[in-house]
Amino acid sequence: MTDQLTFIAYASRATEPFDHARLVELLTESRANNERDGITGMLVYSDPDFIQILEGPDAAVRALLERIGRDPRHTDVRILLDERGSERKYSTWSMGYEPTTRGDGSAEAVAAIQIAPDDASTRESADALGGWFREKAGAEHD
Ligand SMILES: Cc1cc2nc3c(=O)[nH]c(=O)nc-3n(C[C@H](O)[C@H](O)[C@H](O)COP(=O)(O)O)c2cc1C
Repeated sequence: MTDQLTFIAYASRATEPFDHARLVELLTESRANNERDGITGMLVYSDPDFIQILEGPDAAVRALLERIGRDPRHTDVRILLDERGSERKYSTWSMGYEPTTRGDGSAEAVAAIQIAPDDASTRESADALGGWFREKAGAEHD
């Protein structure tokens, strides 16, 4: 199998705090677009930090990144990881999201991925964040 998918992890900061209503609006818009464009992934918001993981066809992911880069709702967009691969990690999530809560490990995971010194440790931190997300998403159905 060739590496036909692009994987991006980026960090940014909200220009104004997102309350529940603004997050719902953002997620509704994002999920509809991503479904249309074949993009999957997840978003973590640990005020003021966003970490988003995007996976999908290269052209679609690049086009989305351009829109995201122009979005005034956040600033200081930094690409942490930009890779090719063949298998989605978030195939069932057009944009997975779980609220962060104090003491749930999310703040540490969000900090860790931002200071990871190289691609290998960034990938490891992205996977750790993915583990956090999956655990939260799974716990909802227990
Ligand atoms: C933190 C953050 C994450 C976003 N994630 C997505 C996303 O996954 N998909 C998407 O279509 N738009 C996402 N957006 C919104 C885009 O920036 C943009 O507003 C939207 O795609 C509509 O673009 P358009 O107005 O050029 O059509 C995100 C915005 C922010 C601030």
